[in-house]
Order: sequence, then structure tokens, then C-alpha cells
Amino acid sequence: MKLSEVYTPAVLLDLDILERNISRFAAEAAAHGKQLWPMLKTHKSLELAALQAAAGAAGFLCGTLDELEALAEAGYRDLMYAYPAADPLSVARLIRAAKRCALILRIDGLEAPAVLNEAAREAGIRLSYTIIIDAGLHRFGVPPEKAGAFARELARFDSLRFRGLSTHPGHVYAAGSAEELPRYCEEERAAVKTAVESLQAAGFAPEIVSSGSTPTFRGTVGDGLLNLYHPGNYVFMDAIQLSTGTAREEDCALTILASVISHPREDLFLCDAGAKCLGLDQGAHGNSSIRGYGVVIGHPEITVAGLSEEVGKLHAEGRTDLKVGDRIRIIPNHACSSANLTSYYVGHRGDEVDHLIAVDIRGNGFCCDEWDEALFLPQRGRMSAKLTGEGEKRRSSAIGSASPSSPSSVNTGGSFPRWGKHSGSSRTPTPTGRRKTSSAPVCALGHLPRARGRLRVSTLRSVPSLRANPILPAWLYSLFPLPSSLFSPAGEKLIRSCSRKRSAMGEKVW
Ligand SMILES: Cc1ncc(COP(=O)(O)O)c(C=O)c1O
Repeated sequence: MKLSEVYTPAVLLDLDILERNISRFAAEAAAHGKQLWPMLKTHKSLELAALQAAAGAAGFLCGTLDELEALAEAGYRDLMYAYPAADPLSVARLIRAAKRCALILRIDGLEAPAVLNEAAREAGIRLSYTIIIDAGLHRFGVPPEKAGAFARELARFDSLRFRGLSTHPGHVYAAGSAEELPRYCEEERAAVKTAVESLQAAGFAPEIVSSGSTPTFRGTVGDGLLNLYHPGNYVFMDAIQLSTGTAREEDCALTILASVISHPREDLFLCDAGAKCLGLDQGAHGNSSIRGYGVVIGHPEITVAGLSEEVGKLHAEGRTDLKVGDRIRIIPNHACSSANLTSYYVGHRGDEVDHLIAVDIRGNGFCCDEWDEALFLPQRGRMSAKLTGEGEKRRSSAIGSASPSSPSSVNTGGSFPRWGKHSGSSRTPTPTGRRKTSSAPVCALGHLPRARGRLRVSTLRSVPSLRANPILPAWLYSLFPLPSSLFSPAGEKLIRSCSRKRSAMGEKVW
């Protein structure tokens, strides 16, 4: 299937560029003997996490509890949760996760650790944590010079275990060019050095010294103190990375495919990708190099000047050969935001569609178990599949048998599991590079957060016509973001039929 056959708007993912970005950062970290624990929130996809692990990622930093639970369920062992948590439900989820993986929390105050300590004691476990230091973002974190004193205060929590320090120099996104980056790298290094010295003076030896952002990665990866890095956006890159001088257009893997649908004025065109594809993000830190809402590839004369929900306003400066009916590709300002607005990436190599990649960990919070059946599932009652507790059992046994992805067992060779031609089983590689057969398709049901483990995909597979007849899957697909493996055997024809159906329903996937 060609890209020219994909319905617009669509979120495209250039797999060659993606793999190059993943390899490049993995190789640089490995060359300096450093561990890469990428921030998962960028892509929220188990399939892409598996690629990062296969390329050498030793662990993951999770931005949501959903991400943490999904990775723990998938068998990843070394996981860090980026932010403190204190409310009882979130703490209960953290305790559950800590029983499944080698979880490291982050702490920057005394309230959250008091709650976490109590919960850990009750559960009979010790929770590991790093102290967050403020390297200039002024969001979370204690001042670097107070890290030692803060560690002393935390020492009273006997069910918590100090492991080191963490930070994120997110204020680097105010940089308007590559020339400005070294200043932020220097600030990051200085903050870390001050914090390490403060901890050592207080009698604490930080085993983990972790930081990371895509723009400061290159400038700090050789630093002697930092040993663990958390870049996130590097897999995609985007227009904000172009503006900070971190990436070139040819490094941007995620683009929005759109059609020009109207030309109401000499200098104005309208396209069918709006805020619900591109996002309204213009950078959190006021970067003056960012113009509009994305970069239209091959059209420097065009600015994405405004967005309504489903429509983009393209302003032309001077002459342009753009016309109604053209298909354009737009690099979004913030690829992480665009990723969070789609259920699937359309993975492609050049002009060829390769396969769909589920964004299976987005959403905002799992329902608790009781809610699943009471509130959520009846709305999906049109589906004939039975919901049972079997997925839960299968999940537990998958975790029990998963090989830990400890740093020593990590493959730093940078090779990627190839997306094979279609087979009946899932193509989502496991953390160890093997392919799951039973639980991975369940994880691909992005819109069924908690129910994912309960849906008997085998039930769907056992319907003979599902894999032979494009009509039935298309119907199912219109109701649910079903795992692509279900559609594999019928290949392109099936995907087209599904996309047509979804398009008819006004969905944004294709
Ligand atoms: C705590 C934390 N660490 C790491 C990252 C990754 O940063 P980047 O996407 O710039 O690589 C983020 C991104 O928001 C973050 O919040």
C-alpha cells in the first residue's frame, strides 16, 4: 500500500528515521558507558518501547501510572516513575507496580514520602527512590545544594530506600538555536555536580545520577557524574527540536499527512488537519523561533498560521505552487502531543505503508477493577466477545516468566527486530526481543484500558470470517482499535477497508 492511498489526515511514522534516531542515541549512550532509560510518554506505544529496549535501553522512565503498569505487565523490570504521588489510589497502584518490577520513584517533598512509606510498610516492601533536584526548570525538585539535607530528612522513612538523584532540564526548550544549547547543558551539569557533592557531604553515595532531555543529551552524555539518561522526544523529533537546533528536517520521523481542501484567499489555504492532529503546542517555554503550528515539508513559503479543531490555516508568503487537492506533510511542533491524539501511527518506509503501530498506552488513568464492569464495558456491549478474568491470569503468568531487562542483559548491539510479514501472532516484540503470542495483542487494545487483559482475543481469532472477510473486521475496527495482528492475514485490502470505514465514521486515524 502506498502513502498516496492513505486517507487524510493521518499520523505518519517514518520507520527508517525512527530506527536511526533510536540507534543514534543508544549508540552515543553506550559509547560513554551510560544507561539509556527513555521517557515513554513521547510515544506511549509498547511496540516502540520494544524497539528501544532491543537497541539497548536498560529501563524506562514513565510519565503516567498507565505507562508504568503497561510496561510492568509487558515484563519490563527496570522502571522509574517520573513524578511524586501521594493520593491513596495512586499510591496503591505504585505499590502494586513495585511488586512486579524494580520500581524507582522520585521524591521532592516530605508529604508524599510519608504516605508512600506507610503504604510500603503495610505491603511489607521497601520502595526505592531518587531525590528530584531543580536544575533550572523550576518545576519539581529541591535546590541542588540542599540535596544532602533533604536526604537526611528522608532517612527517617524506613520503608523507603535512597538510590540517588534525578532531574530534567526542561527549560532548555527556551533555546532558540543550537548556539544556546551549551549554556543549558552547563547548567544541568553544574546542578548535578552541586547536588552530588551535597549528598556526599551528608554521607549519601548516589548510585543513580539521572537526568535527560533530547536537546541537552549530546552536550551532557559524556559527563562524568551522570550515569542514566532519560531523553524522550528523540525518537520522533519535531518542529520544536528544529527550533532549538537539535534536529534537522530529515531527523523528524513523525509527520501529519493532510490534504489541501480550500483556497479562499490569495494568501490562504485550508487543510484537513487541525488542532486535533497537530496540537496547539507552541513550546512550553516561549521559544521565539517557533512560527505557527508546524513545518510544512517542502513549502518554506507556508506557515501553519492557525488551527481550529479539524482545519489548519496555511498562510502563504509570496508565490507558492500549492493548490487545492494537494497532499502535504507537516512536522508538528510537539510530536509527543500529536502522538497522544491518535490511536495508531501509520508506519511507513519511503512511500510504502509498512504497518500500523498502536498507541496503546495513551489515555488518562485506568479504571479501577470495580468500575470496569459497572461503567465501562456495558457501553461496549455491542461487541460479541466475552469478557472474562482469563486475561488477568495470562498476564500474571507472563510477568512471572518474563526475563528481567537488567542492564547486564541488555543488547547494546543496536539491532532492531524486523517487522516480519504478517503472521497470525502479534508482531510486538517482548523486552527480550522475543515475540509474544498471547498477551501482546491484548495490550494493543488501546481504548480498553483495564479491560485489555480481560478481552479474549482468542475468541475474536476463532471467528473464521474475521481473518478472511474484510467486512466483519472493518465493522469491528470501527468499534474498537483492534490489534493489527488480527487484520494481518488479509493485508492491505483489509487495512484499506478498515480505514474507509473509520473515515466514514469521522475518525482521525486515517
Ligand atoms: C521528567 C522528564 N524527564 C525526561 C523527559 C524527556 O525530555 P525530552 O522529551 O526533551 O527528551 C521529560 C519530558 O517532558 C520529562 O518530563
